[in-house]
Amino acid sequence: MAKTDWHEWHAKYDDPAGSLSKRLGTVRTELTRILDARGSHPTQLVSICAGDGRDVLPVLAAGRGHVSAVLVELDGDLAGTARREAAGLGLHGIDVRTADAGALDSYLEVPRADVFLACGVFGNITHEDLETTIATLPQLLAPHASVIWTRGAERTEDPSASTGDPVDLVREVFAQQDFVEDTVIRPHDAGFRVGVHRFVGAPTTPRHGGHMFRFIR
Ligand SMILES: C[S@@+](CC[C@H](N)C(=O)[O-])C[C@H]1O[C@@H](n2cnc3c(N)ncnc32)[C@H](O)[C@@H]1O
Repeated sequence: MAKTDWHEWHAKYDDPAGSLSKRLGTVRTELTRILDARGSHPTQLVSICAGDGRDVLPVLAAGRGHVSAVLVELDGDLAGTARREAAGLGLHGIDVRTADAGALDSYLEVPRADVFLACGVFGNITHEDLETTIATLPQLLAPHASVIWTRGAERTEDPSASTGDPVDLVREVFAQQDFVEDTVIRPHDAGFRVGVHRFVGAPTTPRHGGHMFRFIR
C-alpha cells in the first residue's frame, strides 16, 4: 500500500479556507478551553504524531498557564520544524522527540499527560490498534486528563472495523474504557470531527516494550 507523504499532507494547511485549516482552528479552540479551565495548575501536555506542532505551539505561545509539552513525531524534518517553531515563539519546556509514538518505549521518562493530543492518528490505524491505543492510555495519563482527538468522517479500508460511522466507533471504544465524553464536534460543512474525552479511571503502571499502533497508510 502506498504510504502517505506527510509533507504533502501538511501543505494542505496552506489553504486557510480548507477543511484541514478549519480542523486546526477547532483543535486550538478546544486546547485553549481545556488549558483555561486548568487555570494556574501546572500542565503536562503530550501530543502524539505531532507533525510540525502547529495545533499546540501557537496556543502555548499565547501564554496559557504553566505548560510543559512533549511532542512525538516520527518524521525528522517535521520534528525539526516543530523545534524551530517552538524556539522562534520563545517557548521553553517543549521537548520534541523524533520517535515512534506507537512504541511504548518512546514514553520512557515522559511525565503523565494532563492533556493528550491524538490528532490525525485514529484514521490512519486499524480498529484493533485503536482499541489497543485507548486501552493503553491509562499508562500515559494523569488522573482527570483530557484527550483531544480527531477523526475524518470517511471509513478506512480496515477489515478489523465494524460498519458504521467511524467517529461513533471511536466514541464506543472510549466508552468501553474509563473515559467520559466531554464533546464531539461534527461540522455540517466539513469532513473532520474533533473529540475530547476525559479520563476518569486510575492511572496504570507503564509497561515497556510493545506497540499501541502502526500507521497503515
Ligand atoms: C495526519 S498527520 C497529523 C499531524 C498533526 N498531529 C496535525 O494534526 O497537524 C500524521 C503525522 O503522524 C506522523 N507519524 C506517522 N507515523 C508515526 C509514528 N509511528 N510515530 C510518530 N509519528 C508518526 C506523520 O509523520 C505525520 O506527521
